[in-house]
Amino acid sequence: MSSSAPIGVFDSGLGGISVARQIAKDMPAEHVLYFGDSANAPYGVKTPEQVRALSFDIVERFVRQGIKAVVIACNTATSAAVNDDLREHYDIPIIGMEPALKVACDRGDVPSDPHHIPQRVIVAATPLTLRERKFAKLMDRFDSNNTIFKEPCPDLVEIVESGRLGDHDLVMRTLHGYFDQYDMEHIDSVVLGCTHFVFYRDYFRELLPERAAVIDGNEGTVRHLGVVLESLGKLAPEDATGGVELANSDLSERVTRLSRDLLNA
Ligand code: DGL
Repeated sequence: MSSSAPIGVFDSGLGGISVARQIAKDMPAEHVLYFGDSANAPYGVKTPEQVRALSFDIVERFVRQGIKAVVIACNTATSAAVNDDLREHYDIPIIGMEPALKVACDRGDVPSDPHHIPQRVIVAATPLTLRERKFAKLMDRFDSNNTIFKEPCPDLVEIVESGRLGDHDLVMRTLHGYFDQYDMEHIDSVVLGCTHFVFYRDYFRELLPERAAVIDGNEGTVRHLGVVLESLGKLAPEDATGGVELANSDLSERVTRLSRDLLNA
């Protein structure tokens, strides 16, 4: 596949547009084909087998379109072991995503202090992501030195998909419903472990004290994508004009408009 071939980026719906947006910002020469599976969203309450089947269909479509790499812009699809299974099937680079727990816990390693400062971290993600073995393994690496709370937030996916992200009262009410059980003054960070949640950054800021961080994995994922493509000599030529082409399994005008708005937000 030539270096000027597109990169396929997919999610269960509109959340992965936050990743496509990051690619457009950090790698402007790259041509992205985005596919959102809004007709089948949410993935987070499905079985791993269902998510795996849907993900294979999307990658098959990308392969027919001649992509040079795939980004699974969906923590849920990645944790349904999709990236390992897909890698066995397809001879193209496949970049998955996982909640950026390492970034959150590494904040406890302060250069001026030889001891790790234990972090209190909330991981907000879909029920499937938090239930799967992949996340349990990730948590094992960090929970002896830190306190990690798992918070499944399925309603946050629905709000984005239904175009109600701008409804401040609804969003804050929903967030309070999930997070009022925590003493936020003693939380060091919230990890946005679902690409839909990245669109809620400003709302989370309203909820959290200033000292607490709101962390997502988008920048790290795009950096990783760059490293992989570079190592294969597959980065788009610097003078290429990149961009994002949006497609969705829901063909309604509403979803088309919403996708465009989220990309340009
Ligand atoms: N955006 C997805 C993620 O990163 C999944 C949302 C869903 O469909 O439940 O996990």
